[in-house]
Amino acid sequence: MAENLVLSVSTEKKDRYEVLVPQIAALVEGEKDVIANLSNVVAALRQTMGFFWVGFYLVKDNQLVLGPFQGPIACTRINFGKGVCGTSWKEKRTILVPDVEEFPGHIACSSDSKSEVVLPAFKDEEVTLVLDVDSDKLNDFDEVDVVYLEKVMRIVEGFI
Ligand code: SME
Repeated sequence: MAENLVLSVSTEKKDRYEVLVPQIAALVEGEKDVIANLSNVVAALRQTMGFFWVGFYLVKDNQLVLGPFQGPIACTRINFGKGVCGTSWKEKRTILVPDVEEFPGHIACSSDSKSEVVLPAFKDEEVTLVLDVDSDKLNDFDEVDVVYLEKVMRIVEGFI
């Protein structure tokens, strides 16, 4: 695995993702342990993109259970179809939420969280985990985040 993360100094998030995504692939290469890899993926995302909260929820016994994350403490379990994470799992799709107050059933792990994006990863066409990224600013995520974070999820699917 790569031992150092090269950070882009660009203020454009697209540029920062461009530098980051290949490094995430290198970071997990040759390591099979899922938790070790997920831990490094969230650390690399936090370090590069400066997210307020970024973490994985893993499908276990028909619930989402908190996995490796970076940021303030968070809810440990989320039911199928509940909140943004549970909805992403149920609907098997990425969900971009510009204002969490406007999302029916949003689960507020932190009152500082204002916008978020949740992306699923699949194994045999079933969701096995989701990546949740939260911001303390409204409308902080857009299609650029979706495009690059989906690339990250395709890398994750390579080791789950
Ligand atoms: N807001 C999420 C819950 C997870 S925390 O934000 C870390 C949701 O509605 O699913």
